[in-house]
Amino acid sequence: MSQLSFKDKVVIITGAGGGLGKYYSLEFAKRGAKVVVNDLGGSLSGQGGDAKAADVVVNEIKAAGGIAVADYNNVLDGAKIVETAVKNFGTVHIVINNAGILRDASFKKMTEKEFQLVLDVHLNGAYQVTKAAWPYFRKQQYGRIINTSSPAGLYGNFGQANYSAAKSGLIGFAETLAKEGDKYNIKANTIAPLARSRMTESILPPPILEKLGPEKVAPLVLYLSHEDNELSGQIFEVAAGFFAQIRWERSGGILFKPDASFTAEVVAKRFDEILNFDDSKKPELLKNQHPFMLNNYNELVANARTLPPNNAAGAPT
Ligand code: NAI
Repeated sequence: MSQLSFKDKVVIITGAGGGLGKYYSLEFAKRGAKVVVNDLGGSLSGQGGDAKAADVVVNEIKAAGGIAVADYNNVLDGAKIVETAVKNFGTVHIVINNAGILRDASFKKMTEKEFQLVLDVHLNGAYQVTKAAWPYFRKQQYGRIINTSSPAGLYGNFGQANYSAAKSGLIGFAETLAKEGDKYNIKANTIAPLARSRMTESILPPPILEKLGPEKVAPLVLYLSHEDNELSGQIFEVAAGFFAQIRWERSGGILFKPDASFTAEVVAKRFDEILNFDDSKKPELLKNQHPFMLNNYNELVANARTLPPNNAAGAPT
């Protein structure tokens, strides 16, 4: 198999002064990409700033013969980051929305500022950078976007209401960009990684951290960003050498006749049926269409079970 080359491709990687982003930068550069290494060099909680973080990565890339430029802007100034790419390399082809911070607290104790700040960096930051890159993507009929979600965004995590909200938001954001970008050859996907970095160093035990090298996440990010990848609007989990796709699943569901009593009691009565996944649907279609949009809707309704009259509006037994 020939090497996946990124020659002449311009990639912006946000939060690339350390952790996962640093790894991505080195890998893209090794494969010929022109890399914008963005990082404001703040603390894990998003305080302070230090140009050194991005500079160190750029120097490493250049020392190895690669092409890179440092950018120290906050992702919330996304237009400036894209400007760095355009000024230095003429355009942008790939955006890796990777910058992130943590402000963990139980929901009871979480302040509005903590909630907002985390949403700002992860979600609004990704919005700002992508929004500024979008016109270039459309014009050149080429764009690749990787959003960085998290298992916390997929499943929730204690103490991370802010982070999970932001990380789920990134999934929906990419799913819509995938649809809108389709005719312009813009692909947008989301990863939910787990890796050793300052984000996880104080949380996970050393034997687990040992297995979670950031180099085990980079291959998926590179492939999804490559022109060979046709997939868009998808979600992947990646950690410690494990790669998997995540997709939604809808239970078989039930269809009430429109003239049935649509009461909370009837829902309660048939709740087990609503939760029954024996006849679950997983097709791509599921993301776009409800049964009520299907052509055979009338037929489905005609065949829908009618509740016995004594139960139609009554309390569950
Ligand atoms: P990290 O803390 O090493 O890297 C994040 C980088 O983002 C830092 O270098 C930081 O300076 C930069 N950054 C923060 N706010 C910024 C801003 N406003 N503008 C520009 N840069 C900013 O953490 P790690 O682990 O490499 O995280 C990378 C991404 O992966 C984050 O989005 C994180 O939420 C996500 N992630 C990481 C997991 C892990 O296990 N390490 C798990 C799930 C998701």
